[in-house]
Amino acid sequence: MTPVLTQIEVQEKLSVQDLIAERDLTRGDIELIFSLAERVKRSPGAYARALQGKQLAMIFEKPSLRTRVTFEVGMTSMGGYAVYLDHAKPRLGERECIKDIARNLDRWVHGIVARTFSHESVLELAENASIPVINGLTDLLHPCQALADFFTLEEKFGRLKGLRVAFVGDGNNVCNSLMMLAAKLGVSLRVATPAGFEPKPEMVEDAQACATGTGALIQFFRDPVEAVEGAQAVYTDVWASMGQEYAAHLRAQVFAPFQVTENLMKAAGREAVFMHCLPAHRGQEVTDAVIDSPRSIVYDQAENRLHVQKAILLLLLQDNHS
Ligand code: CP
Ligand code: NVA
Repeated sequence: MTPVLTQIEVQEKLSVQDLIAERDLTRGDIELIFSLAERVKRSPGAYARALQGKQLAMIFEKPSLRTRVTFEVGMTSMGGYAVYLDHAKPRLGERECIKDIARNLDRWVHGIVARTFSHESVLELAENASIPVINGLTDLLHPCQALADFFTLEEKFGRLKGLRVAFVGDGNNVCNSLMMLAAKLGVSLRVATPAGFEPKPEMVEDAQACATGTGALIQFFRDPVEAVEGAQAVYTDVWASMGQEYAAHLRAQVFAPFQVTENLMKAAGREAVFMHCLPAHRGQEVTDAVIDSPRSIVYDQAENRLHVQKAILLLLLQDNHS
């Protein structure tokens, strides 16, 4: 007899209706996402029909491998469906206003993932849609990435509180998200950037204010060697993010001393892992020897995008009966 799949009802709820910025999440929200992601990862079959009949619109102004595939596979593996909307050209808001896009999607689908240049575009979608909106990366933040990254660190080290992570490179969207989530989770983050490429002061202030309650230290360095001292993880990202390609040549010169090499990894803690959100520009921010080494956990991070986002989809979409 064919076994009957039991649909698992997720009873828990997040304190938010949208997932746009780490600052909106409570400690309980983050713990809930992680514990559900762990269950989904362990028993994916149990959730095979959990999002039956649910549709997700995925708006992308920028390219993507991981975010697109993990959201689409995440939806279909739970019985749902995802519609990809290529908004590289025209960008969001150019053919019709964002408010109207949100109000249309509201009538057809149960959730929206959006990857945009401007962070305000995602906020505007959320303001005008009654369905959940998930930030799939903006110029300011990449919350799904940071959640998957800390989930991965917890898997590797069995704890988060008290860990020390070094971020070496550009004070960009990924750095902003890591700073805020580290602050909330009691993880110390040591950021090394060239002068003029630090994260925005308001993002730093926000993260530092949040860190006072958890004991995390959010610190800044010019010297990557100093930043990685005693770190359990060394994290880097591209030197020119999507939309900054015009400045890639200049940035490559400024950031050259911030390349993650085997020598830099030696300066970190003995058990230190290497992390990268990917895509990587091998030979620039990281050498082949580091990213291909046993210390590298970049593909674990990428895998966990799937499990963590499935948890987010379950928590935001399962009870949304629109
Ligand atoms: N890390 C990440 O978001 O990858 P993509 O740009 O391929 O989605
Ligand atoms: N900082 C990078 C992250 C890519 C996932 C970018 O925005 O292009």
